Amino acid sequence: MEQQLTAPQPERKKRIFSGIQPTGVMTLGNYLGAVRNWAQLQEDYDCTYCIVNMHAITVRQEPAKLRKNTLDAYALMLACGIDPEKSIAFIQSHVRTHAELAWVLNCYTQFGELSRMTQFKDKSAKHADNINAGLFDYPVLMAADILAYQADLVPVGIDQKQHLELARDIAIRFNNLHGNVFTVPEPYIPKAGAKIMSLQEPTKKMSKSDENVNAFITILDDEDTIIRKFKRAITDSEAEVVYREGKDGINNLMNIYSVITGKSYDDIAKEFEGKGYGDFKLAVGETVADALKPVRERFAALQADKSYLESCYRHGAEQALAISARTLDKVYKKIGFLQ
Ligand code: TRP
Repeated sequence: MEQQLTAPQPERKKRIFSGIQPTGVMTLGNYLGAVRNWAQLQEDYDCTYCIVNMHAITVRQEPAKLRKNTLDAYALMLACGIDPEKSIAFIQSHVRTHAELAWVLNCYTQFGELSRMTQFKDKSAKHADNINAGLFDYPVLMAADILAYQADLVPVGIDQKQHLELARDIAIRFNNLHGNVFTVPEPYIPKAGAKIMSLQEPTKKMSKSDENVNAFITILDDEDTIIRKFKRAITDSEAEVVYREGKDGINNLMNIYSVITGKSYDDIAKEFEGKGYGDFKLAVGETVADALKPVRERFAALQADKSYLESCYRHGAEQALAISARTLDKVYKKIGFLQ
């Protein structure tokens, strides 16, 4: 009998899904905490990255600005190293399955569950004049994003963990009723750099909505601006570069420096032993400026080539639709929608 030779099957890579809102330029915190890791994950996973403009309209947006911010966010994502040849990079509203699946999942999500979401509570306090149903439903659309791609892992910051937990609950509930339709996603928490703090109030998260522009670095700040902001960073009245409780400012700078250079806190402490905070701040500023330079340059090049960008997001949307439509078809069949 002839033996059938089959090539060894490469192990299927796990799928990653993550999304980012198009709300203006990213901060150093968004970059080090999220998008830079996304780029690194491309080698080992099948990655799917999405600009979530449909989530963005849960708070009032100016249409022209949203359009521009969406394209900029897409270009920034590529500038940060997301390679559209390696990953699927697309814009949420280009792929109809997200809204369609979200509708179905709405009917598998309880009012009470959504009422308990802390982000909904925070945002409805902040936008008391516009507590729309979309804001309430935000986590279900996020669940649809993730479940449509059968994502195994979802890189998220701590502020999105509750939403991811809900996505898991929805998936499990649906699977219990209809068979194994959805992969139940796990959070992927990056090792380091998860939380970059304000340079002016280092107990607060770095945010671009801070009134004090010295509190945050955007990934498009030029070298002089970056160095100036680090020079003005709030530290403490000691003079020792060491990671220790109570030294929030220095801890934050050490974290930033460590994430970019890969050096440990001990190595950093040794490197700056006997030197003042001035030297340390300058070194951190220069390191950050160097790290962001290629991002800035690639962003400028991409912005000058709108047709390339368009070809990328169109291609990304086609790939995304192909995968997510398979899931949606299965869901429609399972729940009894006439084929
Ligand atoms: N809600 C996320 C945030 O604000 C963005 C997001 C939307 C997302 N859909 C997602 C993140 C799916 C991970 C997976 O950060």
